[in-house]
Amino acid sequence: TRHELQAYRASLLHFTDDPAHAEHAHRWHEDGLLIVGDGRIVAAGDYAQLQSTLPPHTPLHEHRGKIILPGFIDTHIHYPQTDIIASPAPGLLSWLETYTFPAEHRFDDAEHAREVADFFLDELMRCGTTTAMVYCTVHPASVEAFFNASEARNLRMVAGKVMMDRNCPESLRDDAESSARDSEALIRKWHKRGRQLYAITPRFAATSSTLQLQLAGELARAHPDTFIQTHVAENTDEVAWVKSLFPAARSYLDVYDRHGLMRERAMYAHCIWLDDEDRARMAHTGTAAAVCPTSNLFLGSGLFDFARADAARMPLSLGTDVGGGTSFSMLRTMNEAYKVARMGGTHLSALRIFYLATLGGARSMRLEGTIGSFAIGAEADFIMLDPKATPLLARRAAQADSLEELLFAFALLGDERMVAATHVAGRLRHALRAGAPA
Ligand code: GUN
Ligand code: ZN
Repeated sequence: TRHELQAYRASLLHFTDDPAHAEHAHRWHEDGLLIVGDGRIVAAGDYAQLQSTLPPHTPLHEHRGKIILPGFIDTHIHYPQTDIIASPAPGLLSWLETYTFPAEHRFDDAEHAREVADFFLDELMRCGTTTAMVYCTVHPASVEAFFNASEARNLRMVAGKVMMDRNCPESLRDDAESSARDSEALIRKWHKRGRQLYAITPRFAATSSTLQLQLAGELARAHPDTFIQTHVAENTDEVAWVKSLFPAARSYLDVYDRHGLMRERAMYAHCIWLDDEDRARMAHTGTAAAVCPTSNLFLGSGLFDFARADAARMPLSLGTDVGGGTSFSMLRTMNEAYKVARMGGTHLSALRIFYLATLGGARSMRLEGTIGSFAIGAEADFIMLDPKATPLLARRAAQADSLEELLFAFALLGDERMVAATHVAGRLRHALRAGAPA
């Protein structure tokens, strides 16, 4: 009802399309007004035009000098790896064995899982990330703990139980039938309960039997509006290993394709060592890539090829991949995405990079209109960025001659210190104290 409206005055930025493929893909209101009611966007536009539409006594929150954008969307992250972020290892497979699997053991303990989930979600709020696609562990208790923590904050999160029945420590192993049964029970309990969404989560081809992948594919067909998430073609040793495990497949990606795991709402992390036939298959099936630059550089996995991905029109999004990734911050992730693209001969515009971290994520998840923009009726998950968060940012921003230059400086110099506030479904969930050192 009208008397429950809240209005926020600041600069506004959001997207209606992909700046790489469409003109006028962004909306910028230098002196803007965002009107929110009942947890949803009522209007977003110029202050001068919208302020007269406000009913008398509507609370007007003055944030001039800040920039409001949709909350960031991180399409690939592991909450059980929070405590092993920044662990040294010479590459993916040794990192998994030395740090990842031992850390994941502890998530059969519901109390430990709850404590980590709370910290993890608070950290996402600090970084301005309001939606993420999250891996839990093989233990159903880890999924319960995560969704309970997310539901308590009314966050729009996607998560799932890792399915993994071979090539991992005995105590982290499920079996094909139990993994499908447990996943189905979790789907029935959590998928679309409030804002929670379920992702069928076979970890990667190397840790699943053919039967497990087959059952995952059947589950995906039986529940077509669920998500799917896995890893593909991250590292050349991993690619060779998968080839030896599935000699009949045309490629690593083809292992998933044969098992019915490529479709809309499927999110594949990394996608570095694909060929053009794979890329065409991603685009054709609507399977999206979660590009994870901080992880790929940290683990020495390789450089995502933006030029070939764009030529194939693959759906693209950005992920942190914590704990392989080195930051929860999507701003820091945008910085490294820019440099990875640059190494491949591509210059990503700042508008494109901000698109990828917001609407690009939502589109890749088929949630456009629900999250990732200020479309009327979308859920009111939004953040306020402070262009003066650090002395250097303030100095560089003052020199910017265009919106593109300003946003470029944010993407290259910004981090969680810029996130002055995070709102979830219209409610304030995180705020930096005014005047406090960030
Ligand atoms: N491949 C299989 N499991 C993992 C994981 O936990 N992290 C990363 N980066 N790659 C993986
Ligand atoms: Zn990962």
